[in-house]
Amino acid sequence: MNMLDIIYKKRDGGKLSNEEIRFFVQSYTDGEIPDYQASALLMAIYFNGLDREETYLLTTAMKNSGDVIDLSEIAGIKVDKHSTGGVGDKTTFIVAPIAAACGVPIAKMSGRGLGFTGGTVDKMESIPGFRTSLEKPEFINLVNNAGLSVIGQTAHIAPADKKIYALRDATATVENVSLITSSIMSKKLASGSDAIVLDVKCGNGAFLESFEQADELGQLMVDIGNDDGKKTIGLITDMNQPLGNAIGNSLEVIEAIETLKGKGPFDITELSLVLAGAMIYVGGKASSMEEGRKMAEDALQNGSALEKFKAFLSGQGGDVRVIDDYSLFPQAAFVKHVTSEETGYVSGIETRVVGFASQHSGAGRATKEDSIDMAAGIDLHKKVGDEVALGDVLATVYGNDLAKVELAAVELKKAFYIHKDRPQAIELIKKIIV
Ligand code: URA
Repeated sequence: MNMLDIIYKKRDGGKLSNEEIRFFVQSYTDGEIPDYQASALLMAIYFNGLDREETYLLTTAMKNSGDVIDLSEIAGIKVDKHSTGGVGDKTTFIVAPIAAACGVPIAKMSGRGLGFTGGTVDKMESIPGFRTSLEKPEFINLVNNAGLSVIGQTAHIAPADKKIYALRDATATVENVSLITSSIMSKKLASGSDAIVLDVKCGNGAFLESFEQADELGQLMVDIGNDDGKKTIGLITDMNQPLGNAIGNSLEVIEAIETLKGKGPFDITELSLVLAGAMIYVGGKASSMEEGRKMAEDALQNGSALEKFKAFLSGQGGDVRVIDDYSLFPQAAFVKHVTSEETGYVSGIETRVVGFASQHSGAGRATKEDSIDMAAGIDLHKKVGDEVALGDVLATVYGNDLAKVELAAVELKKAFYIHKDRPQAIELIKKIIV
């Protein structure tokens, strides 16, 4: 097989065969195809697209480029949840214990944060003693005994995606729905769960801003999941402001615990209930998403979700005392408030600006090698639609490096738009794709 012929074919709008797609993925992963030829093919795909069958074949080839985790030693329908990313999204810590409390086993692999978005693994590492790297037998035992485990994704999951994603990043070929779908779904399908709930974000803090693009991506990801025999549901949800009030590693875990105690902000609680309801439904424990949601509400109210969270923490070495004593989390030496210079309503929030301010406070990393300050981040006191008076605190920045905290506060101020009229309410859940 010849790479040049494959490039010609896609450049001229042709449909790639299974053999051609597998040849590209395997040979590029093995270092047998130079970057310039792989880049040319990716650009041809970017412009001419892949149809559903080609996308499925590409996803499968990338999935099979590394380990495909066998979770058959865990009884029941294992359910995974994936968010396309955003700012302040700590739903995994809430939905995983809720679903587990309702009898759905959760054996999940998550990633680290980069740029303005945070990562579940970093957040978990803010819990004293918590281990995110477990060998497979321990991971499986935990799910069988406690009902859930969340660990860091290994380098052996879809190595083809790792290489191709890095090349896409350097060649302006990231923003193509087929390429995004195959990248995300290859990792999800290799992770071994039987059913998947996808949270596709849209808005000014999302990877794809417009509803139409997010909808197209969500539909294709749901199709590919189902094509692979995994029951998949997608939600298109809002990321026009951070989710909840806390952004930053330990701050987000604390907010997740508050939510599990029934005291979380409305948006994070609502989204978590809908996501958990979908997980309980695809996990076969409810006959509809609505029934799943009702079960999720009960698990929050009767404390069983919080108990599962406790079991999750202790199973992975975390100090369970943090649940009742937040002072055991890493603490910030410096705190700076950002105040309003106007009176009116918060009419909009630049979510990416908030995400970058959090990163610059020390909570995130610009490159994979950067270290992070677990106590750093932002607490929002006002969200879109809230009334503000001159001098009111809009947000608070935390961190252990004063210069970083001050820089973040200056940036954060620019994220808020204040207007004299109350804005329209933001619709949190825009669509459910089943
Ligand atoms: N996240 C991924 O993992 N892959 C993409 O292509 C885009 C976002």
